[in-house]
Amino acid sequence: MSKNSVSNSVIRRLPRYYRFLGELEKQGTVRISSRELSEKMALTASQIRQDLNCFGGFGQQGYGYNVSELREKIGEILGVHSGNPIILIGAGNLGRTIATHMSFAERGFRLIGIFDIDPKLSGVEIGDLKVRNSIELERFCIENSPTAAVLCIPKEAAAEIAKRLQSYGIKAFWNFSHFDLRSENSDVIVENVHLGDSLMTLAYGLNSMNDTEK
Ligand code: NAI
Repeated sequence: MSKNSVSNSVIRRLPRYYRFLGELEKQGTVRISSRELSEKMALTASQIRQDLNCFGGFGQQGYGYNVSELREKIGEILGVHSGNPIILIGAGNLGRTIATHMSFAERGFRLIGIFDIDPKLSGVEIGDLKVRNSIELERFCIENSPTAAVLCIPKEAAAEIAKRLQSYGIKAFWNFSHFDLRSENSDVIVENVHLGDSLMTLAYGLNSMNDTEK
């Protein structure tokens, strides 16, 4: 089955498999059955087999899965070793945190530039990069061909910046601004991230618990 025909929900589960398998590898687990993996991941064993069969299936009847091999293969599917060049726009509180705490290299990216519109931030060091002024964006993109961008800017600025970056060749957006970017065509992909949505899901869960206790 080609990657393109794999459902989005399966793809969204792959990073979780990759993370769990990484933890098992660290603990020294060499092989695991789909039942054991399903217990750890709170999925059903048949769900796991179905998911992994989308890519040809990796297990062996009676043996289960080789943890390192499966992790490596899922990593390949996800492209964790691709080193896609990515830039970050908006070196405020969130941008600085993401630039310093996110292991881009372990997740398929190489952070190569940080930009901010505020001239006071130009030259400030974040990790091993210096913040550049946004006026340098076009030249930087021509010279370094980043293909992805993290947006940590206010929502009012997001649409305009995204349009500009697309004209410089950016094809993928990890968007934290509270403006829901949409991919207008299949050449551009977007991941809108709202931590607040996740928190509200938790609030809903608590409220439902309280309701059933009444
Ligand atoms: P901040 O005010 O500390 O930083 C924003 C930075 O963006 C500033 O340094 C500013 O100069 C820069 N900026 C503004 N317009 C720009 C442009 N056109 N080009 C380049 N740089 C530009 O704000 P903070 O706390 O870092 O948050 C950034 C954004 O992310 C806010 O809009 C906030 O609401 C949002 N946010 C989203 C979260 C999420 O889960 N999606 C979580 C937390 C914040």
